[in-house]
Amino acid sequence: MPAIKGHGMSYQNGKANNGWGPAAADFDDSGWRRLDLPHDWAVENPFDRDENVSQGYRARGIGWYRRYLQLPETDRGRHIELQFDAIATHSTVWINGIVVDRRWSGYDGRSIDITPYVRYGTDPNTIAVRVDADAQEGWWYEGAGIYRHSWLVKRDALHIATDGLHANPVNQGGRWTIPVEVTLQSSAKAASDGTVDAVLTDPAGREVARGSARARIDALGSAIARIKLEVRDPKLWSLAQPNVYRVRAVLRDRANEIDRTEVQTGFRSIRFDADRGFLLNGEAVKIQGVCIHQDHAGVGVAVPEAIWEFRLRRLKEMGTNAIRFAHNAPATEVLDMADRMGLLVMDENRHFNPSPDYMQQLTWLVRRDRNHPSVVLWSIFNEEPLQSTEAGYEMSRRMVHEIKKLDTTRPVTGAMHGGLTTALNAADALDVVGLNYQTWIYDDYHKKHPKRPLTSTEDTSAFMTRGEYASDRKAQVMGSYDDEPSSWGNTHRDAWKAIAQRPFIAGSFVWTGMDYRGEPTPYEWPSASSFFGAMDLAGFAKGAFWIHQAQWVKDRPVVKLQPHWNWTGREGQDIHVMVTSNAQRVRVLLNDRTIGEQAVDPYEMNHFQVPYAPGRIEAVALRDGKEVAHDVVETSGAPVSLVLTPDRQALAGDGLDAMPVTVSAVDARGRPVPLAQDKVSFSLEGQGAIIGVGNGDPNSHEADKASARSLFNGLAQVIVQSRRDGRGVLRLRAHAEGLQGAEVELAVNAVHASPRVPDVEPTTPLQSWRVSPPATTRPDPNVVLAENDMNSWGWDEPPMRRGPEAGAFRLYRSGVNVRADRNDGRAQLSFGGIAGKAEVWVDGVKLGEKIQAEPAPFAVTLPRGAAHREVTVLIEAVQGQASGLWGRVVLERGAR
Ligand code: GAL
Repeated sequence: MPAIKGHGMSYQNGKANNGWGPAAADFDDSGWRRLDLPHDWAVENPFDRDENVSQGYRARGIGWYRRYLQLPETDRGRHIELQFDAIATHSTVWINGIVVDRRWSGYDGRSIDITPYVRYGTDPNTIAVRVDADAQEGWWYEGAGIYRHSWLVKRDALHIATDGLHANPVNQGGRWTIPVEVTLQSSAKAASDGTVDAVLTDPAGREVARGSARARIDALGSAIARIKLEVRDPKLWSLAQPNVYRVRAVLRDRANEIDRTEVQTGFRSIRFDADRGFLLNGEAVKIQGVCIHQDHAGVGVAVPEAIWEFRLRRLKEMGTNAIRFAHNAPATEVLDMADRMGLLVMDENRHFNPSPDYMQQLTWLVRRDRNHPSVVLWSIFNEEPLQSTEAGYEMSRRMVHEIKKLDTTRPVTGAMHGGLTTALNAADALDVVGLNYQTWIYDDYHKKHPKRPLTSTEDTSAFMTRGEYASDRKAQVMGSYDDEPSSWGNTHRDAWKAIAQRPFIAGSFVWTGMDYRGEPTPYEWPSASSFFGAMDLAGFAKGAFWIHQAQWVKDRPVVKLQPHWNWTGREGQDIHVMVTSNAQRVRVLLNDRTIGEQAVDPYEMNHFQVPYAPGRIEAVALRDGKEVAHDVVETSGAPVSLVLTPDRQALAGDGLDAMPVTVSAVDARGRPVPLAQDKVSFSLEGQGAIIGVGNGDPNSHEADKASARSLFNGLAQVIVQSRRDGRGVLRLRAHAEGLQGAEVELAVNAVHASPRVPDVEPTTPLQSWRVSPPATTRPDPNVVLAENDMNSWGWDEPPMRRGPEAGAFRLYRSGVNVRADRNDGRAQLSFGGIAGKAEVWVDGVKLGEKIQAEPAPFAVTLPRGAAHREVTVLIEAVQGQASGLWGRVVLERGAR
């Protein structure tokens, strides 16, 4: 941004449309990179030791985005919103040089009413977004940029407000109702009436209830339409059967539908009980939860929906039934997914602060998320130093109060890591007391506060590196036998044991389900991502995955044997074999000889010392003496070929769908090679792109945005994405030196992609003009207006028609930034219509003269070069006739 200096600039700076530099409508962005949103620029940056360890050693900095769009004349009178689902971190948005939004969080969405500022017809509208990602809100990797979706939303002047449909079922005395509330808004010039229909559809899409209400909405006012839907015997939403209903609100003005919106909802009752823990539909359900952050291998925080689906599916495979999106609001589509997949959600607010800016972030979260059956708990803070104080209590009390105004059906928690013993503390304001770590306080606190529901909000914090079975502090590697707890946490097994054995603790939220960038505790450089995950950054299982699967999965037998069985040089020596299973007994066999059999220890898991001999080691899970599951690990030879395993067979050709493909290596007999570290390069043919690569090694400094990646302990991941309007076949090839390559074909199915706001070229219009008073004699076109004279010349925009005036002469002055892509000596200043004789002067040089006085289009060619040009038009009216700039004035590319 240029420095504001001098009277003229200062004066202008105080005005509404004062965007300078890249915020200005006509800024020359021709040299800028073109990209598609969502976008995270931090993940594109190299690892740099001088950058913040907490942000994963990647530069963040300041970035700008610009976009042009046209709105047809038919949009005039409608309500136009620009929506950003999240921008990391501080952001400012300008429309046509007018600042319209400023935010201080990288996690909240915003819908900006841009109706007053936009132009219709040919003139493009300019969106400029300044993103300050030097600002940080977390101690984890937060990414940088417009990393969630952006939307242009057009509605009728009378419309349903964004997040304005509240439809959360309630059960009173066994009767289900949905008290639907629809917030209506109007940008119309007079009061209007509307009728709202609310329609409930069941999971099969059948209509099961309907109601309607009328409302009167004042000009620029809002009103709430209330409709009570009665539902008999709905199918309950549960973890096993996540029955999702939908509520649609349709707004009619007399007979015509003018707006509609739809939300997911579900019928379930929830309760946190001081003795029995969490109850879903009246039954105690132990929360088997994980905390996760929002970045993934290859893509940073710009995580495509399909990759989120993959992440949640992986967590479910582990037996997870709840997710705490730590420590911020997740993307809205992720909550829709949690509803459909049957996951419970602890929905967390980023900032512990009841002052207005921050309270707005909290109420936005609750308004957006209060219909989701998956959301069972609001969280207002995590580990706040003020938690033990009266201030902490008062702040919590206010935030809880604000939540209750919007949602009375869900309890509020806060994650306390201490401060529970003071006379008045934050826990005194909470419905459910959340405990981070502090397993030692469980019994004592419960005894002292027998009426308070308790849950772990965070536990475990133990370290593992995928595929490693011995810790090596020098190499910054952690073994996977679950014997590396942090000093404040517990092993995965101990943390769960403490929770599982106490019915009054609602459940667990393991830190963490998956690794994330930043916080490479207990290490620093060169480690750049975390060691806490039960899965690595790419979603590959670590030892803890199998431990939790054995502890949590109830509906099928599972068994897993660790470690790998490639221990050349250790022949005859004991190898620690860990078997994790949910069966009754487990037996271990090496090369078909039984090594031992044990009763399953559901908390400690089962451990065998097996003298190493290469071959085939097997774990058999037994129930009532019968084999119910088994797992085999074989010693492999050297890697011989690569294998590509796609997560699914096909992609939707919508430019959004994405898919992780697992890359691995096998030996001559097709056995996976657990320690392969080969560097693999990829190529892709067809209508798609590789959007990222990863391998889950927290110490790797290989690029995420690349077409090559080394295997880390046998595995890597490549993420492909379809192109918009894509169809046909994507052919992914993998190649590594000395190995046979692999190839896979993925179908790209043509789909009807959701509409996308068309790109338009920036046809810089000269909108703002100064106009001299009429003069009877020809004025000097290059007359200099005094810097501090803001009034002797007027301010106006074309079209400017002046009736017959006493003086025949007037000067019209404006300026334009000639873009570098318009500077080839062909750039034209084109006037839609000049009435009167005219001279066009640019930077003190006369470039053209219009001899005829009749109104007519006119154009001059600008000199070569990208520069700010001052344009003065001297018009001489014919006596008694109108004159002026009657049409648009535009800088455009002329013919050669
Ligand atoms: C907690 C904190 C988490 C993470 C974790 C690591 O104190 O809430 O965000 O930092 O420790 O153990």
